[in-house]
Amino acid sequence: MSATNYLRRRNEIEEYFDRTAADAWARLTSDEPLTGVRATVRAGRDNMRATLMSWLPQDLQGARVLDAGCGAGQLAMEAAARGADVVAIDLSKSLVDLAAERAQNLPLKGSVDFRVGDMLNPPGGPFDYVVCMDSVIHYDMQDFQSTLYRLISLSTQSCSFTFAPSTPLLSVMHAVGKLFPRGDRSPAIKPHSEQSVYKALSDYRILNSKRIKSGFYISHAVEVSG
Ligand SMILES: C[S@@+](CC[C@H](N)C(=O)[O-])C[C@H]1O[C@@H](n2cnc3c(N)ncnc32)[C@H](O)[C@@H]1O
Repeated sequence: MSATNYLRRRNEIEEYFDRTAADAWARLTSDEPLTGVRATVRAGRDNMRATLMSWLPQDLQGARVLDAGCGAGQLAMEAAARGADVVAIDLSKSLVDLAAERAQNLPLKGSVDFRVGDMLNPPGGPFDYVVCMDSVIHYDMQDFQSTLYRLISLSTQSCSFTFAPSTPLLSVMHAVGKLFPRGDRSPAIKPHSEQSVYKALSDYRILNSKRIKSGFYISHAVEVSG
């Protein structure tokens, strides 16, 4: 990992999720009705979160979980509702504050410790399970790979993450710049081929793998043993 490259990218991501898109993320992760592209993205994300949660034990009482790049904290809260003690960390202070505020109103069997910071250095590891939903999709292969290795090393049971698969359609959409709604200055998603991801994971045991597609949302989840 080139530290300069990683830090530059991390700053762009923080700027985007903490300021540019914080309101859009608040809406996307709320119960507010959505239409069009955003509705398909929400449906795809709900499906992805349900998939990742289905790979964890139903009863998480006593389990320690890291939600790496927790955003507005949806997965962290679902894991805590199932009894887990979760550390939920994100670069975006505004999303972490929103997540903590939403969690206050929920009856959680476990707990969530919300933190602002880099998921590479969460407090209190190792964790039984590390889950990283759509949080490494903006990194190029080098940073993607070293981030994954770090997250896997923080898990004792399994580490689940998602990547943006490079499909011909996605490549075309990227090329014509139509993937995101106008005015949404998202740092570009960096798609990776399934083959290159499996190659990077050749030293690990793959436990699960599933691709979810819903309108403009396309993401591929993999679980590896810790
Ligand atoms: C697409 S959002 C997904 C949020 C959440 N996982 C979800 O699925 O709702 C990506 C999140 O990853 C966070 N992120 C990216 N790189 C990170 C890093 N190095 N450390 C902590 N958070 C990071 C971003 O700030 C952003 O909130």
